[in-house]
Amino acid sequence: MKILITGGAGFIGSNFVRYILSKYPSYRVVNLDKLTYAGNLDNLSDVEDHANYEFVRGDICDSDVVNRIAGDGVDAIVHFAAESHVDRSIDDPAIFVKTNVLGTQVLLESVVKFKLKRFLQVSTDEVYGSLGKEGSFKETYPLLPNSPYSASKASADLLVRSYFETFGCPAIITRCTNNYGPYQFPEKLIPLFVTNALFDQQLPIYGDGLYVRDWIFVEDHCRALDVVLHKGKAGEIYNMGGENERTNLEITHMILGKLSKPETLLKHVKDRPAHDRRYALDCSKIKSELGWKPETSLEEGISRTVDWYVANQAWWQKIKSGEYVEYYEKHYLRRESYRG
Ligand code: NAD
Ligand code: DAU
Repeated sequence: MKILITGGAGFIGSNFVRYILSKYPSYRVVNLDKLTYAGNLDNLSDVEDHANYEFVRGDICDSDVVNRIAGDGVDAIVHFAAESHVDRSIDDPAIFVKTNVLGTQVLLESVVKFKLKRFLQVSTDEVYGSLGKEGSFKETYPLLPNSPYSASKASADLLVRSYFETFGCPAIITRCTNNYGPYQFPEKLIPLFVTNALFDQQLPIYGDGLYVRDWIFVEDHCRALDVVLHKGKAGEIYNMGGENERTNLEITHMILGKLSKPETLLKHVKDRPAHDRRYALDCSKIKSELGWKPETSLEEGISRTVDWYVANQAWWQKIKSGEYVEYYEKHYLRRESYRG
């Protein structure tokens, strides 16, 4: 099988590239990535010389590059490439629409044009919107996104559905909860807090910190995508989660405990606008139909993740310099005057 993986230089994409190359020695992988601020070839330095791996720097919105790759014997596309950070979508929504919506449409066209066998749209639980204290989202729940990021992902999901219905495009949508693990860009909650705490810098908790996310170790997500790629049914949607609902304060305390750092590092700051209170997924469909379940406990996953960031300081210190510093200085200033 030859797989085109988009966004393979990002966090989940790079973990998935490594997972596929190691589990399926005969598979060929082409990684198409624009290398935005979040794309990093250091994430893949251990596989860059692998005989079955090829990297192409390019934009999923560019139909020429997409068609050139898709038309060269590709069987399936696993589509990770996206603008992925909610805070950035509040600062600058336009690029989210361009990459996440228009880029997905370019890929769908290539699937139809070259009659590819499978398209996996790697989507998110955020498309369902926010939950109260009880309940969980099933795949049939209406889409009620609240941020420009989640709206762009929901829009892409709807385009995927339309290409299945209209053109018979063999597409599947997966919706996953919050991932964490090695190679996550240090703007997301867990890697930001681990790397800040290591240098005794403040941990900015948005609002009261009682927002709830369900955390899944990235390897469990990769296994779920593998199962859907090989056994999933075209036109279907599969939820996938870690069964680890925690408040942001609980996650922060776990990190501080693991690093033996004081709670005084914690700082409550202005909340994110339209901040979804709670996400939780009903994952009974993928469990009963495809036999997948998460295997990594939160305690083990956080421990492995913190150990990885401690052991790989050069990786994140390179990121947390220059452009990163400038962006976050501006970001925190902008937060004070968020619209609405
Ligand atoms: P990431 O931001 O770490 O990586 C995104 C990658 O896409 C980067 O390598 C970037 O260079 C690339 N990219 C961006 N725009 C591109 C373009 N126009 N053309 C080609 N490449 C481009 O993201 P992530 O956290 O690894 O998320 C990957 C996917 O999984 C996204 O689609 C996201 O919506 C989805 N997802 C993420 C999570 C999570 O918790 N991180 C949970 C559920 C779903
Ligand atoms: O649920 C899946 C989604 O998870 C993915 O689709 C997104 O790509 C991914 O970014 C993630 O979105 P979140 O907004 O949940 O992740 P983030 O790490 O930005 O924030 C997690 C929680 O922590 C959220 O309630 C906001 C809060 N937070 C975040 C940051 C960065 C803070 O309190 N302080 C922070 O500095």
